[in-house]
Amino acid sequence: MEDVLRYEGTRAVVTGAASGMGAATATILIDLGAEVHGLDIRPCDVPVHASHLVDLSDTDQIDDAVEAIGGPIDSLFNCAGLPTTAPDLDVMLVNFAGHRHLTEAVIPLLSDGAGIAFISSVAGMGWVANAAKILPLVMTPDFDAARAWCEEHPEVVGGMGYPASKEAINAYVALRGFQLAPSGVRLNSLNPGPTDTPMMPSFIESQGQDFFDNFPKPVGRNARPDEQAWALVLLNSPRNSYTTATSHFADGGFTGGLFTGGIDMALLMPPE
Ligand SMILES: NC(=O)c1ccc[n+]([C@@H]2O[C@H](COP(=O)([O-])OP(=O)(O)OC[C@H]3O[C@@H](n4cnc5c(N)ncnc54)[C@H](O)[C@@H]3O)[C@@H](O)[C@H]2O)c1
Repeated sequence: MEDVLRYEGTRAVVTGAASGMGAATATILIDLGAEVHGLDIRPCDVPVHASHLVDLSDTDQIDDAVEAIGGPIDSLFNCAGLPTTAPDLDVMLVNFAGHRHLTEAVIPLLSDGAGIAFISSVAGMGWVANAAKILPLVMTPDFDAARAWCEEHPEVVGGMGYPASKEAINAYVALRGFQLAPSGVRLNSLNPGPTDTPMMPSFIESQGQDFFDNFPKPVGRNARPDEQAWALVLLNSPRNSYTTATSHFADGGFTGGLFTGGIDMALLMPPE
């Protein structure tokens, strides 16, 4: 069977295509025959069809890029992100509000059966327990309202911008995936565990080397960017046509162990 994943001749948009998992995703999509449009605040080295310089915290820049790309778009891969070392509000705007703005701008341009995949994180695994806190943000009508909500809710965002942004992504994917299911448009998120990308030193800077030395790794190592990229490409493939509104974990068994008692969270957060 040729073109098993059905990306040949399709048009894909990849944010964060200049580095890490986004660059790995763009590379795979190009190999699979897609026309790839990279969106990043930095130029893409990957040989994409077009590299659009976009700051995802600026809605005018997002709108200009969407207009330049035009339709139809067959798949959107929301891979860009800011790490835990960036200011909380910036993290919320880039990781969640800017990507939501991009997604809503792209939805009218999507072809039948199109897929939208976000990179979230195991840091967003608590979104169901925190739904009452995070859904009001997810239900804000637009980027400016999301920014105002973040500024008004330091108890959710303050010091917690990264996990809050990832919980918001998972909640948005569930809410919007459910709403759009009858249309055939699919939204899902990939929740990676620690992955060796250029972002990893920022996580170590904010969490400490001990945190990552102690982080349980059932498969014995961090992920490679291409392993996460393949999970994303599989998740968003038109072949995966019945999967929508879900959070998929590519964490080498971490949450499986955590949720069934095999992994003790106290190992991650030892007492001072
Ligand atoms: N590396 C990990 O361990 C890990 C684990 C879980 C989730 N994640 C998530 O994976 C995604 C990809 O991160 P990565 O690890 O490949 O890191 P990376 O730093 O290699 O890539 C992040 C990309 O986002 C781009 N970006 C940052 N701010 C931007 C902005 N304002 N506008 C447009 N582009 C912007 C960067 O230029 C970069 O190309 C992120 O959403 C991150 O939160 C990473």
